[in-house]
Amino acid sequence: MTFLFNSDAKRGAIFAEAFARELPDISFAMDPASVEPEAVRYLITWTVPDDLARYNNLEILFSIGAGIDQFRIDAVPTQVKVVRMVEDGIVRMMQEYVTLAVLALHRDLPAYLDQQRRGIWQPIAPVQATERRIGVLGLGMLGSAALESLHRFGFPLSGWSRTPRAIDGVRCLSGGEGLETLLATTDILICMLPLTEETRGFLNAELFARLPAGAALVHVGRGAQLDHQALVAALDAGRLSGAVVDVTNPEPLPADHALWNHPKILLTPHIASVTQAETAAATVIGNIKRHRAGLDPIGLVDRSRGY
Ligand code: GLV
Repeated sequence: MTFLFNSDAKRGAIFAEAFARELPDISFAMDPASVEPEAVRYLITWTVPDDLARYNNLEILFSIGAGIDQFRIDAVPTQVKVVRMVEDGIVRMMQEYVTLAVLALHRDLPAYLDQQRRGIWQPIAPVQATERRIGVLGLGMLGSAALESLHRFGFPLSGWSRTPRAIDGVRCLSGGEGLETLLATTDILICMLPLTEETRGFLNAELFARLPAGAALVHVGRGAQLDHQALVAALDAGRLSGAVVDVTNPEPLPADHALWNHPKILLTPHIASVTQAETAAATVIGNIKRHRAGLDPIGLVDRSRGY
């Protein structure tokens, strides 16, 4: 029985060591050419290989990242379980990034960076955290963790999810009406939604118009959820005051794209949260043990929802 690791060798070495220790009966492989295809029961990868069909005894397809939107999931046989990466390292990094982004917007960092470049010494009247309403779109593992890390600053916290959720200290909203309420009462909107057909193009002019004037955006979902032109137009019109953007479409952005030099945008190259090999290996091993015990792996994708 084989576990095939299809990602970078550095992380692979860490996985190999953990597998040798925890699951010695599974042979660990990093070279697809070296395996007996029928022996491969588990595959971890970022994109689905074109020759997936050769692994005809595959039981679990693991994503090396938090998302599975890069998989063409319809091409994965239905008996194969598809599993997102749900691991402590990703959660911690996302907490750091969202905290960084929210505080940067809350404390007017884009404006101060612009002023610094132009040699302007000009304080901006500060807003207290208790007056800055945070709204998170998506209350999965990452959305909930981000809210938890923002709690200590005293921001009023709200979150929206497709189906109802309850989180201590957070006003949780759901459905169409809930979305309307969330948008109307959010000063910093954080998009942590998975990319599905329903969320493609979600962050558009119409949505920006439903936020209070001068609201700001943190985008750590997927690039295809954001209408980039609409963001620039909303910033230029003063409808939105700033944005921190970690994901774009395409990635990398073309050299002449308007997002690069916009004074109200802080742009990072899809680094908000990155799978950490040690914690990810422990998670995958735990999931194989669960699967062998007849339990669903943590992060199992519901094909009908698409995440
Ligand atoms: C990164 O975006 C990931 O899916 O892990």
